[in-house]
Amino acid sequence: MARWCLFALLVCLVYSVAAYEDLQPTTYAQLAPVKGQWNITVEATRESPDAFMPVTCDQAAVQAPCNQPLLTADRADKLKLTYTLAGSGLKTLDDLAPKGVRFVACYATPSTADRPWRKANPVMDKDKSCPFIIKDVPINANGTYTVTWLLPKNTTKAAWYTQVRVQCQNGSLTSYCQFDTTQNQTYWATNIINSTPVGLKVATAICSAVGPLFLIAFFLRDYLTKGK
Ligand SMILES: *[C@@H]1O[C@H](CO)[C@@H](O)[C@H](O)[C@H]1NC(C)=O
Ligand SMILES: *[C@@H]1O[C@H](CO)[C@@H](O)[C@H](O)[C@H]1NC(C)=O
Ligand SMILES: *[C@@H]1O[C@H](CO)[C@@H](O)[C@H](O)[C@H]1NC(C)=O
Repeated sequence: MARWCLFALLVCLVYSVAAYEDLQPTTYAQLAPVKGQWNITVEATRESPDAFMPVTCDQAAVQAPCNQPLLTADRADKLKLTYTLAGSGLKTLDDLAPKGVRFVACYATPSTADRPWRKANPVMDKDKSCPFIIKDVPINANGTYTVTWLLPKNTTKAAWYTQVRVQCQNGSLTSYCQFDTTQNQTYWATNIINSTPVGLKVATAICSAVGPLFLIAFFLRDYLTKGK
């Protein structure tokens, strides 16, 4: 049994390594020379479901006064994100040809603390602090992209910012070739009210408490029976 667990773990590992392979491991630092080309504005339905109001909070803490009231998925709150290229044309790293734009949502630094599964990474496609892909769109001619995003049900209590990531063809691979961010400029913050039913929370807690015991038990059994 323990061997099967190890095998499953290995399969997961190999699979997650393979999943990264078709994207070049571009770092944020590499793209610094072409940063700063986008104006990004954020609006949210803070008071009623269809009235978007500007979000201008530059504080990364969930409890910051400018982040109140918190948005929630339960109330079906939406964000309207507008990304506009400031100049004419887009300058990419190595002058690669842009083919698409990806908008992502990222955890603000205080919301990643003590949570390795949200850990920031200098390599863009391994950056676990940006887990939500808001939308992928092809490059368009006028340089303005407006995305309305309904907060997903798995949104947790956190403060967030957005990134725009331009994807380019680089030989046979896809590379990120330009990016911008609202980090340190514009954040929004979310709350959880009721997204997970209490029963599921209890079940999850019991499973995660008992799970390791089973694993230890299987290892022990395997270890003890091997000697016989
Ligand atoms: C949230 O849920 C969506 C769809 O249910 C899933 O595709 C996505 O990976 C989830 N994201 C996170 C960060 O859990
Ligand atoms: C494009 O590919 C070349 C060769 O692999 C690499 O040196 C370069 O850094 C890549 N450019 C970007 C923007 O990733
Ligand atoms: C945001 O601020 C932090 C702390 O001052 C700094 O380390 C980081 O580089 C800044 N990020 C951006 C994108 O400006």
